[in-house]
Amino acid sequence: MTSTPLRLLGISGSLRKHSLNTALLQAAQELLPPDVSLTLHPLNDIPLYNGDLESSLPEAVSAFKHAIAQSDGLLISTPEYNYSIPGVLKNAIDWASRPAYKSPLAHKPVGILGASPSPYGTVRAQDHLRHVLAAVHAYALPHHGLLLGGANQKFDEHRHINDPSTRERLQVFLADLASWTRRFRTPHHP
Ligand SMILES: Cc1cc2nc3c(=O)[nH]c(=O)nc-3n(C[C@H](O)[C@H](O)[C@H](O)COP(=O)(O)O)c2cc1C
Repeated sequence: MTSTPLRLLGISGSLRKHSLNTALLQAAQELLPPDVSLTLHPLNDIPLYNGDLESSLPEAVSAFKHAIAQSDGLLISTPEYNYSIPGVLKNAIDWASRPAYKSPLAHKPVGILGASPSPYGTVRAQDHLRHVLAAVHAYALPHHGLLLGGANQKFDEHRHINDPSTRERLQVFLADLASWTRRFRTPHHP
């Protein structure tokens, strides 16, 4: 049986070249259900939020908002910084959240992931992200996706997940996210 193709946008909350969270999204790209694609959108070029620029948005912000609007759902992998989400991610969400409640984030299904070397696997950051997503009227998948603790031990030198049970949990989570996203899908594709 074929299903409607879904386009997911992957957002890593880390700008680091060797980011564990970006590696997790790259791993997800190889474990997607059929008919689901995942494109990563780096946040590197997004400037700090400045309301004075709302009337003429910086190009990187327009591109980010457009990519969100064109997607059926988001997959965000967040690091944990001081028990919360990194400023880089919050800043990008703040830009994308305007105009309030009518932004590209409103009614957008979202899956939340996170990777950390610590055993807690970003649980506090993921809960904070869920809180922020509620403010922008996005629809976060209700259960914790993958609290990837000890993440610095979970990837091989090619940045592939080296642990079958983690791979399996990620695969199940991606299938759950696809089902969740299909519930809210709006027919905006050409
Ligand atoms: C400013 C800062 C604060 C951090 N705070 C936490 C924290 O509260 N909890 C945690 O698990 N890891 C914390 N870490 C460690 C990060 O989880 C670790 O650097 C991780 O690799 C960052 O994600 P990335 O690999 O995707 O860049 C912190 C790192 C930085 C730079």
